[in-house]
Amino acid sequence: MKTKIWLIALAIGMASSSSLMAVDYVTDVLPIMKEHCWDCHSNEESVKGNLALDDVEEVRDYQVGTYNIIRPGNPEESSFLEKMKLPSGHTDFMPRKGQPLPAEQLAIIEKWIAAGAVIDAKKPSDKEKAFLATGESVAMEDEKLKFHSWTNTAGTVIEARFVRLTGDAVTVVMKDGKSYNVPLAKLSAESQTLAKKLAGE
Ligand code: HEC
Repeated sequence: MKTKIWLIALAIGMASSSSLMAVDYVTDVLPIMKEHCWDCHSNEESVKGNLALDDVEEVRDYQVGTYNIIRPGNPEESSFLEKMKLPSGHTDFMPRKGQPLPAEQLAIIEKWIAAGAVIDAKKPSDKEKAFLATGESVAMEDEKLKFHSWTNTAGTVIEARFVRLTGDAVTVVMKDGKSYNVPLAKLSAESQTLAKKLAGE
């Protein structure tokens, strides 16, 4: 156990040069989001672009990942941060209609992503622990975030991302963001196997 804690401290220390303290979403980033993004990205106000920054579990499960808007260890390719760094006249600039974030706030967000985009340092998820220990996301998590081809028993093929398997239904989400519940029995044998694999069964 001691070794593990030391490894985590080391990983955070290496990623964030100026301090050994953990930066996490709940303590460090959420207050910045509240200040600049709440009107359009919170369940409290309104949720634009499917992004609710006050739902920390959703942020962890759907916004953080190798192919998502927040890419652990990779602030340069995290569109989340990129949008805040654009010139304020740019169409993709965030906060929309707002002022650019002060440099020190951008630096905190950058440091947070570089250090693994941990949501709550007091309760890291297994995925976060693995990242902190190795500096890499777990391969299985990457598989889950990819768009896969799914075939149903009628032979129709769709491209969709796996969300979950509950009982006998698979939930998938298409590239346009629409999600569907598909009975397992309506999928080809191969797609059923894929769903079970991604669900960790
Ligand atoms: C005045 C409303 C408004 C504010 C304030 C705002 N946004 Fe947005 N944001 C939007 C809208 C509308 C979209 C939907 C997509 C689009 O039009 O680009 C969006 C989309 C996004 C996306 C893309 C989501 C995705 O999955 O593609 C990100 C990332 C984002 N906003 C981040 C932020 C952050 C971070 C802040 C605060 C610093 C912020 N926004 C503040 C209106 C806003």
